[in-house]
Amino acid sequence: MNAREVSGPNGSVDPASVPQRVLNTGALMPAIGLGTFGSDHVQASDVAAAVEGAAAAGYRHFDCASVYGNEAEIGCALQGVMQGQVKREQLWITSKLWNDKHAENDVILSCTQSLADLRLNYLDLYLVHWPFPNFHPPGCDVTSRSSDASPYIHANFMNTWRKMEELVDLGLVRHIGTSNMTVPKLELLLRDARIKPAVNEMELHPHFQQAKLFEFVRSHGMVPVGYCPIGSPGRPERDRTSEDTAPTRDPVIVRIADRRGVHPAVVCVKWAVQRGQVPIPFSTKPSHYLSNLEGVVGEPLTQEDMGAISTIERNCRLIKGQVFLWKEGQSWEDLWDLNGEITPP
Ligand SMILES: NC(=O)c1ccc[n+]([C@@H]2O[C@H](COP(=O)([O-])OP(=O)(O)OC[C@H]3O[C@@H](n4cnc5c(N)ncnc54)[C@H](OP(=O)(O)O)[C@@H]3O)[C@@H](O)[C@H]2O)c1
Repeated sequence: MNAREVSGPNGSVDPASVPQRVLNTGALMPAIGLGTFGSDHVQASDVAAAVEGAAAAGYRHFDCASVYGNEAEIGCALQGVMQGQVKREQLWITSKLWNDKHAENDVILSCTQSLADLRLNYLDLYLVHWPFPNFHPPGCDVTSRSSDASPYIHANFMNTWRKMEELVDLGLVRHIGTSNMTVPKLELLLRDARIKPAVNEMELHPHFQQAKLFEFVRSHGMVPVGYCPIGSPGRPERDRTSEDTAPTRDPVIVRIADRRGVHPAVVCVKWAVQRGQVPIPFSTKPSHYLSNLEGVVGEPLTQEDMGAISTIERNCRLIKGQVFLWKEGQSWEDLWDLNGEITPP
């Protein structure tokens, strides 16, 4: 892919003007990244083109994962970006260990495969994608159950984490972190980790603010990275239920967006950055990913707007994780330790 083939946005943002978050190592992470999960219906080549276009628009942070099935195409795009004006050290690249690679012998191999696909010699951040070791094929139905699905067993997770720590020792990744964790799971990990998680990636949008987990993460030296910041309007059918709500249709968000002349998605992204999380909105449309970035560097939301958005929490988790349930008769709530204790096996 070369620059002429990229349908980039008409305009860009100076990356130096994008706010940054300080991690527990002192490293700086751009306060907004581009998501790269095409929700099973966006082609890998389109996501890769968005990565290249977004870099031209001023994005420096990209949220990748092996399970998204597009790291090789994104690697090609990143190579193009780095052959231009952008140096490797100006980029922030995250990848994630998938659930079928928690075994001790698989962690380093899986990371080196992502590095090879992404054409990098180190990652800025490597996450354990979910705390449940099991396998389900991309695109499977929510009722799909892996016969070897397993609950969270802390000793097993620590075996995986020791290999994550080794990745840092080996210089293959700069930071390690978690995703889809809960307070009781993080309490154990923080107690036992030699290298503490630098971030927890979690669902965060105006209808799912996760105040308790958000504060826990921040008060324990981690940065909350927020996925589905716009409420994931393009998520697959299997991740939709009739109770789900859409933050972009909330009257409070719509009113603020109308007043500012922007799409409600932009208000969600601005709110996220101002609240202190790092949103990773996905888009393959140049005008959309540019407006999200412009929103972050533009005039902030007022205190009144921020106050109004804080009141529209709907406790609406969109990514419920049903495929990770490990025995019959469970409900997705069992994955999220709602009573403050790890759900027993
Ligand atoms: N750690 C995890 O377990 C986990 C789970 C889920 C997601 N993630 C990460 O989080 C990222 C974001 O989540 P997501 O993709 O589910 O949801 P999202 O970012 O909340 O929503 C993406 C959708 O919003 C639309 N959109 C984006 N900007 C817009 C704008 N300015 N105006 C109008 N529409 C706009 C996009 O459509 P267009 O393409 O048409 O613009 C796309 O359909 C993923 O890509 C992935 O990297 C991580």
